[in-house]
Amino acid sequence: MNSFCSPSAQAAPQVAVGSSQRRGPLRAGERVQLSDERGRLNVICLAPGGQFHTHKGFLDHDQIIGCPDGSRVTGSQGQRYHVFRPLLSNFVQSMPRGAALVYPKDAGQIVTMADIFPGARVVEAGVGSGALSISLLRAVGDHGYLHSIERRQEFADIARGNVQSLFGQVHPAWRITLGDLQEQVLKHEAPGSIDRVVLDMLAPWECLDAVARVLVAGGVWISYVATVTQLSRTAEAIRADGRFTEPLAWESMVREWHLEGLAVRPEHRMIAHTGFLLMTRRFADGAGPLSPRVQKKTFADEDLDAWLALESTKRPTSGRKLRRAARSAAEGTALAQDDSGT
Ligand SMILES: C[S@@+](CC[C@H](N)C(=O)[O-])C[C@H]1O[C@@H](n2cnc3c(N)ncnc32)[C@H](O)[C@@H]1O
Repeated sequence: MNSFCSPSAQAAPQVAVGSSQRRGPLRAGERVQLSDERGRLNVICLAPGGQFHTHKGFLDHDQIIGCPDGSRVTGSQGQRYHVFRPLLSNFVQSMPRGAALVYPKDAGQIVTMADIFPGARVVEAGVGSGALSISLLRAVGDHGYLHSIERRQEFADIARGNVQSLFGQVHPAWRITLGDLQEQVLKHEAPGSIDRVVLDMLAPWECLDAVARVLVAGGVWISYVATVTQLSRTAEAIRADGRFTEPLAWESMVREWHLEGLAVRPEHRMIAHTGFLLMTRRFADGAGPLSPRVQKKTFADEDLDAWLALESTKRPTSGRKLRRAARSAAEGTALAQDDSGT
């Protein structure tokens, strides 16, 4: 008999963090998604005695609490809804936010292409609203390690609230540090101790040396950037450094399809551009590119200065809006904790 496949040889599975939040009857403190007869969605946080109001009447939260996921409920004026526990992709798109977040289509690509495995030691920056942190934590699992570094306190607060709200508790694999990746990662992580680095920020090339130092030989570094100027600058910096493989760049587009009888066609609208992904791997020390690269003319410093000046004129999100988002993320956490007794 092949003992490799024998179930008796395997350890009994433990209950993974957050899995109990995804199962069982709908509970007070959970965010749920209501969809009406026209498919319109509303996300509400269930509270005992709470009510959801529209111009068509109201719906008591108590009617939903205790129901199975996917139930049908009826409001005060006979209006009908389906109620579902949001999937990770729904949760992320409706959670409080302060910065642009990594959409599920890109998070899926990052997890797979960066080869984020259960138990992996991963560094991520910036954290923004914590959307990508959630996918990374799911992938490293309870016995992995995700160190998220964020330079702005307000964003760190929003992310903390969102992550705890999704998992229902503080995730045992998560550590969040305030500051710049360039400094913090070298302060907290030993050289060659990190399996994967994931960056989503304006200037990933500024982190190149720090990433090269903490990344294990063979480790993966993936960057998510919004513009071609960032993509080009990061790729050229990686090439010039010599400690990384030739970078691979791509983007993904997801186009939904309309399905109705014989009218089966692509939807008219789609989110075509979110960002570009750029991936590379760390050579072992002493190993480098096999053949010297011919350095082509890239771009002039004036071009770069012009672009950076343009980026810095973008209106920053107001402190008031960020504090409101952080309060809303923290409310989700408090309700989830009350309910789970943590
Ligand atoms: C677009 S947001 C990240 C969104 C996040 N990935 C998500 O899915 O919600 C970019 C974040 O990077 C942070 N940031 C920029 N440069 C940084 C650096 N060098 N170190 C740490 N954080 C940085 C910014 O403050 C901002 O919160």
